Amino acid sequence: MTDYSFADLVGDEKEFFAEYFNKKPLLRKNALKDPRGILSLRRLDEMVQLEIIRPPYLRANLKGAGVPDKGFTQTVTVQGTDLTDAIVPEKVYELFRAGATIVWSSLNHLDASLRSFTRVISDRFGAKTDCVAFLTPAGKQGFSPHHDPVDLFIVQTEGTKRWRLWNPAEQRAGEAASYTPEQLGEPVIDVLLEPGDVLYLPYDTPHAAAAEELASVHLSIMVRPRMWKDLLKQTVDELVRDPEFNRFPYIGESRDSATEDLFTEKVRTLAARLTAVEPAAELDRLAQLGRRMPGNSTGTTFQTTARLDALEPDAPMRRTDAVVEFGANQEGRVQVTVNGHRIAVPAPVAETLAGLTAGQQLAAADVFPGVPAERATKTAQGLARIGLLEVAA
Ligand SMILES: [Fe+2]
Repeated sequence: MTDYSFADLVGDEKEFFAEYFNKKPLLRKNALKDPRGILSLRRLDEMVQLEIIRPPYLRANLKGAGVPDKGFTQTVTVQGTDLTDAIVPEKVYELFRAGATIVWSSLNHLDASLRSFTRVISDRFGAKTDCVAFLTPAGKQGFSPHHDPVDLFIVQTEGTKRWRLWNPAEQRAGEAASYTPEQLGEPVIDVLLEPGDVLYLPYDTPHAAAAEELASVHLSIMVRPRMWKDLLKQTVDELVRDPEFNRFPYIGESRDSATEDLFTEKVRTLAARLTAVEPAAELDRLAQLGRRMPGNSTGTTFQTTARLDALEPDAPMRRTDAVVEFGANQEGRVQVTVNGHRIAVPAPVAETLAGLTAGQQLAAADVFPGVPAERATKTAQGLARIGLLEVAA
């Protein structure tokens, strides 16, 4: 799949955040070049046949109601362990023929390229994203007019789907709700989405969607809005981690007034610390927290560790960004602490490591000055295994 940028989705980023973000829906026809590369019917066929797929990753919706999982799952046995709800592809296909919408939840858990695709949005919004794919048979109403409590990016990848959108109301509660056509009036956007088209819906934007003559696949990337109340809670959470707030006071009926004075004192301490918070650094920290997606991380540890097994003396090494503490020199050996590992290394190695600036490289054979290249390379290998060095390539 092509790597897409945030600008591919929204066009001019500045304009997007000034005009549309959190305000009104945006339609971008033909925004993405290779939409089937993002998610195709072929890929969905391949995935439905992976024996590991089970609810809630796949669910079916027929005539406006969810189909019970039992209707399309079975038990399969893997190495003696029963997996009681593996989906049965034939039953899913039967439901699709009968007009069911097949909903694929959290596809970013299953597909590395969709993970990168959703991460692009997480990075910009500083918020968690999740991606759901909807496969709708031709001519079936998907869902009636409603709004969702999340910001949505809709990406059409196969077939067509008609979308009607209304501007969000002045007062937004951030909770799901549905509408009757009379409540909504004329839509502000009424469009037949085709592969490559993108829609952005701020949270609580009323919408209704239905497939037309062609079976439709669209991705819906959901961004959970982080309101001020969510951000402030995280700031307070960080401040109250101080041991100062760790006692367990008795606050029942027979408490004495000293406890109440103590409470006032704690509230004042917290208020003073809140006032002292440095806004730029704290907002950066909160944005970084929001980008974190457990179960959705990146990593190449298997590959890099395997590559270390065959480390050559001329391999370019550099320090990782792990924090390293150097102890005192004791009879030619220095205690080094990194990533929870504590090892004693020969003083010349410690000196070399301490002298390495961020990004500076040296050959594996030069990590341990004054010994044969083979031994120095072994040392570099050991330091890389504990995460102190890494291969720069
Ligand atoms: Fe929706």
